[in-house]
Amino acid sequence: MAADPAPGWPGTSAWALDPDVSYLNHGGFGATPRCVQADQLTWRTALERNPTGFLVHQLPELLDGVRREVADFLRTGPEGIVFVDNATTGTQTVIAQTRLGAGDEIVVTDHCYPAVLAQLHRTAAAAGAVLRVASVPVEPPSRSWVTEAVMALVSGRTRLVIIDHVASCSGLVFPVDQITAECRRLGVAVLIDGAHAPGQVPVDLDRLAPDFWVGNLHKWVCAPKATAALYAAPRWRDQLLPLVGSHRLTEGYQAAFDWTGTRDPSALLSVPAALRFFAAAGWPAIWAHNNALARQGAALIAKSVGTAAPDPPDGMAAAMRLAGLPWQLTDAHAKELERRLLEQERVVVPVTSHAGAHWLRVSAQLYNSPGDYERLADALLRYQRERAHLV
Ligand SMILES: Cc1ncc(COP(=O)(O)O)c(C=O)c1O
Repeated sequence: MAADPAPGWPGTSAWALDPDVSYLNHGGFGATPRCVQADQLTWRTALERNPTGFLVHQLPELLDGVRREVADFLRTGPEGIVFVDNATTGTQTVIAQTRLGAGDEIVVTDHCYPAVLAQLHRTAAAAGAVLRVASVPVEPPSRSWVTEAVMALVSGRTRLVIIDHVASCSGLVFPVDQITAECRRLGVAVLIDGAHAPGQVPVDLDRLAPDFWVGNLHKWVCAPKATAALYAAPRWRDQLLPLVGSHRLTEGYQAAFDWTGTRDPSALLSVPAALRFFAAAGWPAIWAHNNALARQGAALIAKSVGTAAPDPPDGMAAAMRLAGLPWQLTDAHAKELERRLLEQERVVVPVTSHAGAHWLRVSAQLYNSPGDYERLADALLRYQRERAHLV
């Protein structure tokens, strides 16, 4: 098993998670450390001392400061970055403004997040456009195999390719660099759905140079909820508008997104505190630790219940891993299993599905330990024995 976090790294007590629960769903909504929550409260207090002074006079400069830090972290300049509440808003912003005509095509994979698919279905149906879906197994043979499977569906009718940076249903890390480069060569726009990417895998936006990229900061950067960054390539910046426009709608890309009506900016202002929280440990060490723990945790569970844990080639998996279930489940049974594990076993883990099969998706964050995965394995064995008894 992966070693416990190194001395001096933030441990379980740095988070406010219920100590009785084994929390194996960091990927779901992240979890905000205590010190970051405290920082957010400080911002809220500052705002309420003088709401007008804060929101009208201080906020623009404060947002620029956050933007600079986020841009550095994502390895790009601040000019391309705007903030949205979450990846859902980011993807919808781009999809809603993609010019589509009858017969035009959008290419996705069968790992695409269901909410994004729902957005696409609505937009495509309204325009008479067609969705083309590349099938990618949860354990593909190589990065280039995946790139070829996606690019095989790209044609002269393709108006947008949407690729998950790290997929929700599988944890698969897609070859976004290869796919983006191929699309650029063909002049096809790419939106990378990086909901799970920042803080889970390295992100280098200048090197990737996608048309659009959106990433949550409330998941693996552990910022407060409703913090996400949206990047647009230079050629899109004078066209892309927020879904909700307000006073500054006509003042340019960043001004339009910076003010979309009155809202609480404290979560966003605490993103630097979340980045500082991880700074001492350093991202490469955190990635290595979390990846190893997730891999070993999933393997332990699969071995215990007699199934397999997909082990994609190097660079195609990170801190969310699948373990097979020993039973065929319906979606309703999957929800029931999640609930039982929480209520009777105090283990939080999502059951995901891909291509008709259900999987346990375990995450690993610094607050997790090998015992969390052992607890889940024991719970599954108990459940298995009960089912055998019932049959
Ligand atoms: C790939 C992907 N895209 C989009 C989202 C939506 O994120 P949010 O609920 O923060 O908008 C998620 C959420 O888990 C996701 O996994």
